Amino acid sequence: MNVHGKHYRTIWLKEDDPRVVQIIDQSILPFKFEILDLTTVDQVAHAIKAMLVRGAGLIGATAGYGMYIAALNAPRDSREVFLVSLRAAGEQLKATRPTAINLAWAVERTLAAVEGVQDIEAMIDLALHTATAIADEDADYCRRIGEHGVSLIEEISQRKGGKPVNVLTHCNAGWLAFVDYGTATAPIYAAHDKGIPVHVWVDETRPRNQGARLTAWELGQHGVPFDIIADNVGGHLMQHGLVDLVITGTDRTTYTGDVANKIGTYLKALAANDNGVPFYVALPSSTFDWETRDGVHGTPIEERDATEVIYMDGVHDGEVVTVRITPEGATAKNYGFDVTPARLVTGLITERGICAATEEGVLGLYPEKRK
Ligand code: MRU
Repeated sequence: MNVHGKHYRTIWLKEDDPRVVQIIDQSILPFKFEILDLTTVDQVAHAIKAMLVRGAGLIGATAGYGMYIAALNAPRDSREVFLVSLRAAGEQLKATRPTAINLAWAVERTLAAVEGVQDIEAMIDLALHTATAIADEDADYCRRIGEHGVSLIEEISQRKGGKPVNVLTHCNAGWLAFVDYGTATAPIYAAHDKGIPVHVWVDETRPRNQGARLTAWELGQHGVPFDIIADNVGGHLMQHGLVDLVITGTDRTTYTGDVANKIGTYLKALAANDNGVPFYVALPSSTFDWETRDGVHGTPIEERDATEVIYMDGVHDGEVVTVRITPEGATAKNYGFDVTPARLVTGLITERGICAATEEGVLGLYPEKRK
């Protein structure tokens, strides 16, 4: 993804010091573009919890690099002491955000890799190797999701005789939520790059406005036409034939096809179902929950601080300001995610291809996960 013409990933090692992990501070985008250094596990945990980095794929990649930082900083008195410290760092990172399954997946993957090794230096090397592999894989899988998903847009474009294809998306399942390309946005970028006219309806996505702030920013950087809409507009647009396709991302999807995603996704799926609009969800295999059958009742739903509902950030006279938008003293509840049942999902776009949101569909693409 290019920012002001320069290619960036969302996380990387500092060029002249590979002990430092660098991220883009997403909590201040699009108002400021700043790069931060991470050198301790506490800093990494804070970056995930306070959403300086966010989005399932990037949370996973950050956890991978966090485990590498933990390995660099762990005491080396003995292999056992080193491993105890690494496991404690893994628990600290896993406790930051509960819904995005990529977080636990990345921590467990790193621990499984290093636990098989005796030498501490080799363990540190392996932690770095694993973090790099997680990040590279994430970017590669998102690119492939784009290659598979673009066929859906291409087909609609042909049916519409080349008129712009209107895609609605929720929250930010874009480049910023992964290491590169994004999931929901990957087919959109691929279509745009192929010269297929595409226009995106961007749900603002209260309370943190990841759509209005982040998706709008990155689509703009790539030159994709879009309009931001308030969260409750989608149903109206669908009733009037103004949405050809919905593509969202997900923070955790069960192997049976239930999709946990940013709060409000379920209502979009209901509206899409009522209006015969195809509703697709794009995800890499790292976002599947291979253990849970019933996503609606089995998915941990993050509750965040009420201040995110009560206050909003914006720019006034060139300064970033925070304003209260509720009566003084009002209370609020802030549920971060909801679960869309598989029956409302037209299909899943993965790095291995597109499948039905059913156990058979998912396990057909990932036969090695059959129990
Ligand atoms: O709370 P966030 O910003 O980390 O939530 C993640 C999201 O942006 C969406 O739920 C997205 O669609 C999931 S795709 C990583």
